[in-house]
Amino acid sequence: MAPLHHRILIKGGRVVNDDYSQLADVYVEDGIVRAVGPHLQLGAPAGLLVIDACNRLVLPGGIDTHTHMQFPFMGTQSKDDFYQGTKVKEEMRILAEDKGVNSFKMFMAYKDLYMIGNCELYAAFSQCKQIGAIAQVHAENGDLIAEGAKKMLALGITGPEGHELCRPEEVEAEATLRAITIANAVNCPLYVVHVMSKSAAKVIANARREGKVVYGEPIAASLGTDGTHYWHKEWHHAAGYVMGPPLRPDPSTPDFLMNLLVNDDLTVTGTDNCTFDICQKALGKDDFTKIPNGVNGVEDRMSVIWEKGVHSGKMDENRFVAVTSTNAAKIFNLYPRKGRIAVGSDADIVIWDPKATRTISAKTHHHANNFNIFEGMICHGLPVVTISRGKVVYEDGVFNVTAGDGKYVTRKPFPEYVYKRIKQRDEQLLGKYVLQKAWESGEPRKPSVMHGATGDQ
Ligand code: URP
Ligand code: ZN
Ligand code: ZN
Repeated sequence: MAPLHHRILIKGGRVVNDDYSQLADVYVEDGIVRAVGPHLQLGAPAGLLVIDACNRLVLPGGIDTHTHMQFPFMGTQSKDDFYQGTKVKEEMRILAEDKGVNSFKMFMAYKDLYMIGNCELYAAFSQCKQIGAIAQVHAENGDLIAEGAKKMLALGITGPEGHELCRPEEVEAEATLRAITIANAVNCPLYVVHVMSKSAAKVIANARREGKVVYGEPIAASLGTDGTHYWHKEWHHAAGYVMGPPLRPDPSTPDFLMNLLVNDDLTVTGTDNCTFDICQKALGKDDFTKIPNGVNGVEDRMSVIWEKGVHSGKMDENRFVAVTSTNAAKIFNLYPRKGRIAVGSDADIVIWDPKATRTISAKTHHHANNFNIFEGMICHGLPVVTISRGKVVYEDGVFNVTAGDGKYVTRKPFPEYVYKRIKQRDEQLLGKYVLQKAWESGEPRKPSVMHGATGDQ
């Protein structure tokens, strides 16, 4: 086991935040960034570890917005655990106030399992707003999926392709628009998890242009691969890609989603990492509706987004940091402790070699399952050192981690980044209401307020 260093100096790298990059050293002590600047002069503090970051990027640690570890689901449990990888109003309040949970995911799919309807969504969004949480939705029309699945099975389509055929893009787009409409009626911020299709992404982009407070999360899978795999002749291969909403057979989808991520129509990236091995997937051998839904991503997210985003020329290094780290930290109220390299921030740092390459493979990955949806993808840009709260946890292919090292981070409600506009709108609405009431009760109008005009009325 590598010794624990309380002091680390990362020398000569290019420090990249979401708003600018600079050539600078970074000094870390006791898990916190203490200094950032060119040619730091520190003397020779005891036990200092010096890491050479010349020709490398020094990035804030990635924040995966969406994972499922040891998730009991569809008659089994997802493979990766934390080492590797709402229902009731009062419970939501307790979680928010006492446990530091500031987001809740609602399912519009998985009929008879998790799915909730419009009234329940309205109530849940209202409660989220009350307690200052972010409402998240898995946006798919569960009723249409259930009917579509029956139709496919009646036609004798039992293989993984039936999974996609019974839930075409509009099933995702309709639910996305419905969730946005309900959230907007409540004036609650909305976060759409795993955006998988062009149609759903367009709905989100339009809503943002209309000024609605909504965020879209494409995932490594939807940015890095596509749904043509559902037609692969090998059943196990096709089943390995089954997830909901499905990957889309239109092969131009990943590029489209990446473009929207670059221009801020979409905001953050997660993975929805929820892995099942081949034996678990085989639960649906004769009926695609029984294939446990979920794919990998947590290990490869940064590489896939660098490859498809930055290496392709679509995205610069600062936007890369924004969509892999900073925006998530802002939305979930962790910023600037997380999502930034600055004095006072947690020393969660990735030293990134933009020139190095690797080929993704299940043979070399660190997931607990035996299949990788990015198999064979060559990625430029690699983490060479990863530092978590001041501890070097990965260096040149070697991990230095212990189960239980991870730390739960509590999050405060009402993140400003999300709630500022919500509050402003409520105040506006309240102002209008008070004026209306005053007018109804016969009080004289205040022309300057009612008409927003000057003294000539
Ligand atoms: O297929 C998926 N997405 N599995 C994980 C559960 C979920 O819906 O997020
Ligand atoms: Zn989901
Ligand atoms: Zn999920």
